[in-house]
Amino acid sequence: MLLKKGEIHLYCVLLNPSTVFFEKCRAALSEKEQERISYFKFPSVQKSFIISQGALRLLLSDYLNIDAPKIQISKHSKGKPFTIDDTDLCFNISNSGGYVVYAFSRAGEVGIDIEKIRTLPDLDELIEKNFSAKEKTFISKNKAEKEKRFFKFWTVKEAYLKAIGEGMRLSPDNLEFTFENNNYELDAIKGVFEQEDWLFTDFSIATDYAGTIVYKDKQTKISEIKFIN
Ligand SMILES: CC(C)(COP(=O)(O)OP(=O)(O)OC[C@H]1O[C@@H](n2cnc3c(N)ncnc32)[C@H](O)[C@@H]1OP(=O)(O)O)[C@@H](O)C(=O)NCCC(=O)NCCS
Repeated sequence: MLLKKGEIHLYCVLLNPSTVFFEKCRAALSEKEQERISYFKFPSVQKSFIISQGALRLLLSDYLNIDAPKIQISKHSKGKPFTIDDTDLCFNISNSGGYVVYAFSRAGEVGIDIEKIRTLPDLDELIEKNFSAKEKTFISKNKAEKEKRFFKFWTVKEAYLKAIGEGMRLSPDNLEFTFENNNYELDAIKGVFEQEDWLFTDFSIATDYAGTIVYKDKQTKISEIKFIN
């Protein structure tokens, strides 16, 4: 499969796929991963691991033309995975509810995040803890939209933290975004004006999901999400 420099490819896999696809995912795991699956305590966690890691290997195999189990996957110091076989091929993964999504890019780092929009008993607490005063006003302004806005904004912050490879090393309340003209923009990190131009694009896998993809190059063309199973 060819991934041109100006493109980002998006994929979505169901965590409850066909038996044929599940077996393909299992067969794609490396020897070490095959060993690891026998140690999972909960069958549901084992199944999710087989699907998300197996599908990642199947997709990487298509791009790299290397047998899926032989692809060398490593992690940066803060946990972001990459492949030693082609360090120009950047990718990122997210899962929520019954789905896993993948983004692949050859135009620099990419971050992806999805969240199933759901009722949270501690919603107000989470808003209080993770968002700035300005962000809180935006999220809570419209009661009917509050849950939806919260999850959308959450994916914006998390996809950004994943694009830069920080993950939870940088607490989300250190980031301040504005939302204007249907666009999210990163204003400041730890109160310091942010000069890097990251782009935040919305995507949807289902009506009850929020999704954001973060990347750098303005010219990038993002593919329609491809469902595989
Ligand atoms: C890394 C992190 C961002 C993952 O978030 P998550 O919602 O738990 O899980 P997701 O399914 O979206 O992403 C998991 C994948 O991210 C990738 N990942 C792990 N560490 C990463 C890092 N430092 N940077 C980028 N990607 C990372 C991995 O591929 C991982 O999948 P794996 O565990 O199967 O290998 C998370 O651990 C984290 O740091 N979360 C806290 C950030 C936070 O509080 N955000 C609130 C926003 S308001």
